[in-house]
Amino acid sequence: MAFSERFLEELTERSDIVDVVSEYVHLTKKSGANLFGLCPFHSEKTPSFSVCPSRQMYHCFGCGKGGGVINFIMEVENLRFPDAVAFLARRAGMELPEEEAADGYTVLRRRLFELEREAALWFHEQLKTPDGETARQYMARRGISASTARRFGLGYAPDSWNSLGDAMKARGFTEQELLDGGLAKRGRNGGVYDAFRGRLMFPVIDVRGSVIGFSGRILGDGEPKYLNSPETMVFSKSRNLFALNLAKKSKSGYIILSEGNIDVVSLHQAGFDSAVASLGTSLTPEQARLLSHYTQEIVIAYDADAAGQKAAQRAIGILEKLDLRVRVLNLSGAKDPDEMIREKGPEAFRKLLEASEGQVDYRLGVIRGKYDLSAQDGKVAYLQEAAALLARLPSDVEREVFALRVAEEAGVSREAVLADVKRLRSRLLSQARRGAEKTAARPAQNVQPKERGLRYDDPRSARAEEGVIRLLYQEPELFRKREPISPEQFSSPVLRRLYAELLQRVQNGMKPSMAVLAETFSPEEVSLLTGILQKPETPGNAGKALEDYIGIIGNAGSGSSDDELLALAEKYRKTKGYGG
Ligand code: CTP
Ligand code: MN
Repeated sequence: MAFSERFLEELTERSDIVDVVSEYVHLTKKSGANLFGLCPFHSEKTPSFSVCPSRQMYHCFGCGKGGGVINFIMEVENLRFPDAVAFLARRAGMELPEEEAADGYTVLRRRLFELEREAALWFHEQLKTPDGETARQYMARRGISASTARRFGLGYAPDSWNSLGDAMKARGFTEQELLDGGLAKRGRNGGVYDAFRGRLMFPVIDVRGSVIGFSGRILGDGEPKYLNSPETMVFSKSRNLFALNLAKKSKSGYIILSEGNIDVVSLHQAGFDSAVASLGTSLTPEQARLLSHYTQEIVIAYDADAAGQKAAQRAIGILEKLDLRVRVLNLSGAKDPDEMIREKGPEAFRKLLEASEGQVDYRLGVIRGKYDLSAQDGKVAYLQEAAALLARLPSDVEREVFALRVAEEAGVSREAVLADVKRLRSRLLSQARRGAEKTAARPAQNVQPKERGLRYDDPRSARAEEGVIRLLYQEPELFRKREPISPEQFSSPVLRRLYAELLQRVQNGMKPSMAVLAETFSPEEVSLLTGILQKPETPGNAGKALEDYIGIIGNAGSGSSDDELLALAEKYRKTKGYGG
């Protein structure tokens, strides 16, 4: 399967990298031609993710990832090349050429999306059948209205071994597709049976509105309480959140993160339309990143039990790294948001939301809970731990405000607390400075690619090979009429392949584009290339620079000094006659 050059060319022309990236990352202009933002591929607080409009590429100076617009979509949406192309084509309003759309993997994925949607519709229909009475009764017991059931597309999986399977086969789906979609299982005797039986079904819908899998709750007591779709070609638990498809449209300005599907349904029904749940896993960094695309503030409404509170602490750590504001609800009395709403009503929950603590309050509360403040050593331990927390707050005002609170609680003076905080803070700052110096010193020595598999055997030659590739982008004219150096002379296999591919494009009169590399080169290889293109090229005489590089390539024995290399380059240039 291959997309034609022309098709890809047009697609990338219609998919400006700044527009596409802006749908995921808030980009701002700093100096120069590049735009910067917080990297979507690693956690950071200061922007090191850059987008270069003229080259239509991105590169993160922090994690080293980079590429063209297709690479970006592959990475951020977790898609393979053909699917990323299809994704961008849809976005750009372009038709996929027929035979090109027929990649086996893409076709199968599309079939699974259809299957999951058909299954969701079928489960939903079953709610209305006589058989669905048990599910209707269960929903009534849990206070779930018919219109809420419709909004979430809730359904009923009958207590039968093959009713879904039969219904889907009648619609043209195969047994294999049912297995691949996680809707059927193969038994020990080889027979295939429905995976979800006798359960209330919660379809999981991704942010684009496609049903990708299910969560099924048993009707009443029993084990396991929930059954989730396994990881499939279209479903990944750690990269999706239940109800984010609905919550992303909320106007509330924040997203409520709860633990249970039932909590989410109940919250939406009570008017809190920005609730989501993390599908039975504790919040993953991927889920946090996904949330950060839709909001800047998260309200954690986890269960009140110890497990819930521990999970909340973990989630705070993950969300903070993404610079999201985090508040934590204290469900005082109720065990979870569902119970709170059912017992005390939506108004009580709304009050709680309004009064909800900032994360500093919350964390101080957790620390306070660990110690007996009426005992002398408990007080000291509390003061120490609280000071360590305050020392990390970036704002002077916040440190002052919370120091006062801590001081009052422990019955000491604010000055005493602040003195401790100040001492700890200056220690932290000097640690951070030392860390930064180390990182700053690193690039000079760090001549090798990050990826182990791409390491250079001959770093000196490779350095010059990198230079040639940089010049190919900067001054393609130098390479158009003749081939100043053949790829065979490159010492690094990956640089040789990159150069050969790009050179061919240039010699065919095209620009050395980044986008088309996404198909034949791995993400690591493309990232290596964007890293190379970020390094400064000596301005001025490109022809001369090219000669110098060519002189070094292949002749750079290990251990020679720069002077030797320059002399060598000089000699090489004379004998081979590569005149300016
Ligand atoms: N979960 C799961 N597997 C289980 C139990 C729970 O995947 N065996 C996930 C489900 O996504 C569930 C969430 O963890 O929604 C929270 O679990 P729990 O609080 O037990 O479920 P609730 O949805 O709150 O259901 P209920 O109110 O009926 O107890
Ligand atoms: Mn629960």
